[in-house]
Amino acid sequence: MNKIVLITGASSGIGKAIGEFLNNKGFVVYGTSRNPLNYKKSKFTLLTLDVSDENSIKNTVSKIIKKEGKLDVLINNAGKGITGPVEETPLEEIKKAFETNFFGVINVCNTVLPEMRKQKKGLVINISSIAGYMGLPYRGIYSASKSALSIYSEVLSLETKQFGITVVDVAPGDFVTNIAAGRYHTPLFKNSNYKEHYAKVLKQIDAEVNTGLQPEIMAKAIYKIILKKKPKVRYRVGSFMQRYAIHIKRLLPDRLYEKILMKHYKL
Ligand SMILES: NC(=O)c1ccc[n+]([C@@H]2O[C@H](COP(=O)([O-])OP(=O)(O)OC[C@H]3O[C@@H](n4cnc5c(N)ncnc54)[C@H](OP(=O)(O)O)[C@@H]3O)[C@@H](O)[C@H]2O)c1
Repeated sequence: MNKIVLITGASSGIGKAIGEFLNNKGFVVYGTSRNPLNYKKSKFTLLTLDVSDENSIKNTVSKIIKKEGKLDVLINNAGKGITGPVEETPLEEIKKAFETNFFGVINVCNTVLPEMRKQKKGLVINISSIAGYMGLPYRGIYSASKSALSIYSEVLSLETKQFGITVVDVAPGDFVTNIAAGRYHTPLFKNSNYKEHYAKVLKQIDAEVNTGLQPEIMAKAIYKIILKKKPKVRYRVGSFMQRYAIHIKRLLPDRLYEKILMKHYKL
């Protein structure tokens, strides 16, 4: 299994679990972190990469190509959380979230795609979110960034198939990782009208992440996708209810679905 794999954001959580799993399966894994020296015990090679810094992406990708002569699989996993009422979330922070979750993926793809085109094959897996299938209260910016990513992936798939490149969008539900610790939480305005709702929903979001699935489940799903001859465009990996919520949304009138979401979040 001499497949060469690059995983962004592989210092913790889902990225780390995917890296360890694929490494155990015999893949040559290059993970990335903005500060790899903080993770000296990584079980696979961890290189420096910030998805918002084009030079760091170019350096890392060229290092891998120089050493291995190819790159078979790119997993765009780096991402960050952001919560808050959309009305009060600072524009600067909205831009930062998109910088990582959306523009960051484009940055990495734009560096890797020419290499894959030369090879006449390659697999790009973008990690979006089930939160990108629906606007979730107080996670609107995160939902929007992941929704944008999923649409980007669909289009990238259409446009790069001609070069032998396969693009797959994988949307996780809740998984127990460091995502909550690294999240940006909007500080509310002094007399904010959202205080009560936001506090209640944030508690629920944290509880749902903390009781989420183990990242190894995502790792196994990614492994299976890599082995597939013809992977689907989109996969959802999560609890039955979280995956089911997407189907329900498709079937029900929007206002009725909104009611269900509001009931779920006790709004
Ligand atoms: N956990 C969940 O419930 C869940 C649900 C749906 C989707 N997701 C998505 O799954 C992916 C992995 O998240 P996770 O839950 O495993 O979170 P995590 O444990 O916080 O890991 C996030 C990873 O992203 C990296 N990262 C953050 N900003 C970066 C940047 N600007 N450039 C490069 N790397 C950066 C971090 O690496 P360094 O800090 O070392 O640079 C870290 O390795 C994310 O895209 C997330 O949105 C997670």
